[in-house]
Amino acid sequence: MRASNEHFGLSEEQQQLKLVARKFAQEQIAPIAAQLDERSEFPRDLIKEGHSLGLMNLVQPVEFGGTGLSYHDACLVIEEIAAGCAGVATSMVVNDLALLPILIGGTAEQKKLFIEPIASSGGLASFCLTEPGSGSDAGGLSTSLAIEGEDLVLNGTKQWITNGGVADQYTVFATIDRSKKHKGICCVVVPAGAKGLSTGHHENKLGQRCSNTVQVRFDNVRVPKQNLIGKLGEGFSIAMKTLDGSRPMTASIAVGIAQAALSHATTYATERKQFGQPIGSFQSIQAMLADMATHIEAARLLTLRSSALLDQGLSASMESSMAKRFAADMAMQVTTDAVQIYGGYGYTKDYPVEKLMRDAKLMQIYEGTSQIQRLVIARELVAQLSKK
Ligand code: CAA
Repeated sequence: MRASNEHFGLSEEQQQLKLVARKFAQEQIAPIAAQLDERSEFPRDLIKEGHSLGLMNLVQPVEFGGTGLSYHDACLVIEEIAAGCAGVATSMVVNDLALLPILIGGTAEQKKLFIEPIASSGGLASFCLTEPGSGSDAGGLSTSLAIEGEDLVLNGTKQWITNGGVADQYTVFATIDRSKKHKGICCVVVPAGAKGLSTGHHENKLGQRCSNTVQVRFDNVRVPKQNLIGKLGEGFSIAMKTLDGSRPMTASIAVGIAQAALSHATTYATERKQFGQPIGSFQSIQAMLADMATHIEAARLLTLRSSALLDQGLSASMESSMAKRFAADMAMQVTTDAVQIYGGYGYTKDYPVEKLMRDAKLMQIYEGTSQIQRLVIARELVAQLSKK
């Protein structure tokens, strides 16, 4: 099925980019998505192939080995990949999430040192913010950072870390003084081989099962001072700015999942016959398909609008949260409706829609729950009011 981005004035180059991503997703990812899901198998070969096609490190500048896309164009690519498999898309997109703090807060030398080797080699990076005791309350984290001579020493545990265990480098948020709350948080780059860094088991998740989600532990991990990104205490602001940038990309994963569900459900509705006619000829099914398509389009537009603001260097905190919130909740509803259209068959692993429904659930949880997105939006509304 044709996604309606084509009618939003995409240049030939953008259409070509989407086609490359679509071909990769439909020919290489989709055929093995169910198998990866079943086995909880990390898609290392697909990621390598995605990197060689220029479909990773999307918003990292070309001079540092990235693809150098705008946020808008990155979203076009991500939607296509996610329509093949959201777990694969998450595994690929997390590189941008983990490298963005360095792009946002690092010096030119640090960008060369920490972005370039990962982006140019097809390496993997992980973003370590969440902890067992601090999820939504990111400012309440407790992993500690101490300065000892010329070194930084990290101690603590990070939870739900995507690409943990398979990453070559970790972007870690830790506190120099917990009593300072968010003002004590710092951002540090840690190579995977650092002594004292260890990872837990691959979590047995409901959806997006092929993406590697683990606990990462830091036991007196020592890195040089040059691995500190930004100033001491600037880490929280760097993390929040990073999430502003990454949430539209995450929203695109949700749009891709929902688009895949709609495509399957529409095809099924024309093939499945009941009462002597295709179920798609009944108004109740038509109304479901129409609503699904309309809500997908609305989420896509929010995603492209928030990414366009980022591309203009404008603040997009509220719009990024709107896109992430709406797209995540929309994907949950659309995939649930797709299962409903398939009826009993949709509830089995013989058809693709139950996986999409399981994959969609994570969209409402990671990179800030739908509840946290609403909090960001509401706070921004109040802040705007007080500026008037
Ligand atoms: N940009 C820059 N600075 C920002 C900011 C932004 N978008 N948002 C807040 N700040 C600043 C504030 O201005 C404030 O600064 P001052 O102290 O100088 O005034 C400071 O940060 C604290 O702000 P808040 O009072 O708003 O902070 P808070 O503690 O109330 O929490 C929050 C804010 C929005 C709830 C935040 O904690 C949050 O986003 N939580 C969700 C965390 C999250 O998304 N985690 C996802 C992990 S990554 C993941 O899941 C990915 C994966 O593996 C795939």
